[in-house]
Amino acid sequence: MANWKPLEQMTYLGKRYPRLDGPGKVSGATKYTFDLTLPGMLHAAILSSPHPAAKIKSIDASAAQALPGVKAVLTDIHPTGTVRYVGEEVAVVAATTIALAHEALELIKVEYEILPFACDIETAMQESAARVFSDQPNIREPRKDGKGDIAAGFAQAAVTIEGDYRTQVQVHACLETHGSIAQWEGDMLTVWDSTQSINPVREAIAKFLNLPQTNVRVICDYMGGGFGSKLQAGRYSAMAARLAKAANAPVKLMLTRPQDLMIAGNRPNALVHVKAGASSDGKVIAFSTKSYGTAGVAPNARIRLPIVYEDIPNVSTEHYDVFTNAGEARAFRAPGCPQASFVMEQVMDELAEKLKMDPLAFRLKNDANATRQMQWKLGAEKFGWNKRAAQANADAGPIKRGMGLGAAIWWPGGRGTQAQMTILPDGGIEVRCGTQDIGTGTRTIVAAVAAEELGVPITAVKALIGDTNYPYSGGSGGSTTAPSVAPAIKNTAEKAKEKLLTVAAQHFGVTANEVTLANGKAFVNADEKKSLSWKQLCALLGATPIMVNGEWVEGLSSAGVAGCQFAEVEVDTETGRVTVLRILAVQDCGLVLDRLTAESQVNGGVIQGLSYALYEERLMDRVTGAHLNARFENYKIAGALEMPKIDIILTDQPERGVIGIGEPVKVPTAAAIANAVYHATGKRMREIPMTPDRVLRALHG
Ligand code: MOS
Repeated sequence: MANWKPLEQMTYLGKRYPRLDGPGKVSGATKYTFDLTLPGMLHAAILSSPHPAAKIKSIDASAAQALPGVKAVLTDIHPTGTVRYVGEEVAVVAATTIALAHEALELIKVEYEILPFACDIETAMQESAARVFSDQPNIREPRKDGKGDIAAGFAQAAVTIEGDYRTQVQVHACLETHGSIAQWEGDMLTVWDSTQSINPVREAIAKFLNLPQTNVRVICDYMGGGFGSKLQAGRYSAMAARLAKAANAPVKLMLTRPQDLMIAGNRPNALVHVKAGASSDGKVIAFSTKSYGTAGVAPNARIRLPIVYEDIPNVSTEHYDVFTNAGEARAFRAPGCPQASFVMEQVMDELAEKLKMDPLAFRLKNDANATRQMQWKLGAEKFGWNKRAAQANADAGPIKRGMGLGAAIWWPGGRGTQAQMTILPDGGIEVRCGTQDIGTGTRTIVAAVAAEELGVPITAVKALIGDTNYPYSGGSGGSTTAPSVAPAIKNTAEKAKEKLLTVAAQHFGVTANEVTLANGKAFVNADEKKSLSWKQLCALLGATPIMVNGEWVEGLSSAGVAGCQFAEVEVDTETGRVTVLRILAVQDCGLVLDRLTAESQVNGGVIQGLSYALYEERLMDRVTGAHLNARFENYKIAGALEMPKIDIILTDQPERGVIGIGEPVKVPTAAAIANAVYHATGKRMREIPMTPDRVLRALHG
């Protein structure tokens, strides 16, 4: 099995180095799909349904067609002719400017037959509610799971708790909205897509347009956030391609911000009734839930309960997906987990309190994961858990402080990725890999892994990614990117290195294993004075570059991580305002490729988790069916002013190889904050976001 060399021999891996695309990004020079302009490019805009449920009876686009500057209009884009949520795509226009395209949308006359709707979960669950799909009830068949004997578990429990928990719908809020630019050259289609999945998008576009995949190329050089919502092709990609064909010109189609928030994915909500019991010696022995959640017009609002503490012997879960007239959910950073953690970790605290146990001691009793056992203790010590007041609501004044904690977990590891390396006679190094950088630093680690193997500076490697013309890699999802890509790059670089060593050995008149490639040169082990600079070595290639292909191999990556987070909050009991003072994240990370970008992911997860805990919530209007806050003006996301001090401890396990940590770091943040709010106030927040009105209601209501 393949192996990484020991950490102490590494130049880059395990260390801190800035991302290669940092200067371009902060200076604005970097071009995202949103920024690209092709010669003769048209701009497209989508007409969104204003109705949450309606049959499209007719569309008259003649006035729009006649508007000078309008080059193409499509009125057949809806797959069924019945719209099921506000914002859904009804027609699309391409024009010479984006302003003209929007003007043209106003000229399209759509005749709707308006249907009854249910845009929120409470309404949709009522007996008399309008059906989202006429042929089936809104509440779907349950998914039941469990083990042991739940009744016997509760019978043995010394303490039990029971309660209703609730989480909200969170939208992905990617800084770059979803969208594509499509360009035809003959029957060859090139799509620049804001995506975390160039290859799956290529496949989907080819299928939709009935083209061979060989005729479709997808490019994503840089993208502004996906978090799971850009793992799939959007209807917009196919629309851009069809408009480009019709108008015989490249077409850019980016969703507007409201469209992006309405139609391009969300994290489902969860209504969870939970009952749990623990034995007198502090073990959770019974856990049962009945939960509901909506993924809008799609199924799969399932939450992952019980989470982390999976050794509970008696478990019963029953989950119902509920259809609503709202945009469909998509995978969102640790799907099903932050909502489960919010429930689970508070249940743990409630049980601990009934047993008069410290929440940390209770975790140590119930957490079977050895890594996390170590992390709980390490984190508690660094955080100062021993300074935590034994009782909740210990502060006398109106401003109260509290501490809470929660556990992180994630499962998937690496998988098939291919790569190619070219070494040119002038010393140039190119690595090609059909992965993409969703903002986590993939381009940088591709270059770093190659540079590490070849013994050259990271800046000597040109990392070429984000193009389906490059060797295959999968979507950047499930925290699989680093453990998929890094092994493939190493394997490829090893093969190039082998060829270079042979060239050098021939030159020196020794065997390849008597030569070393390091510090930008090749030298004979026995006599370091016999050396060639990198450029001299590559010049020996003559006219023929080295070109090798490699792939993901076993042994360089692992699956499964553990972590935990500690939060300290301040609650103003007069205003209901919660301020998070500090978060400590302890995270298992396998072999850290770049400490800076790894820590950046932890920061991102904590920030997004804090935002989920305190601010974000999709609001649907029961009267009109509209998504009321589909704008950043009123869809509040945590900003710089709300940031706590974030401390990060990566508990490296380099012997395990590379592991992804994009997702686990978002899992426990909201739970840790909620537990801290309880500790501060003595009132349990069973609903997020913990906005001032909800906090005040919990305190005084
Ligand atoms: Mo992730 S939700 O698999 O991008």
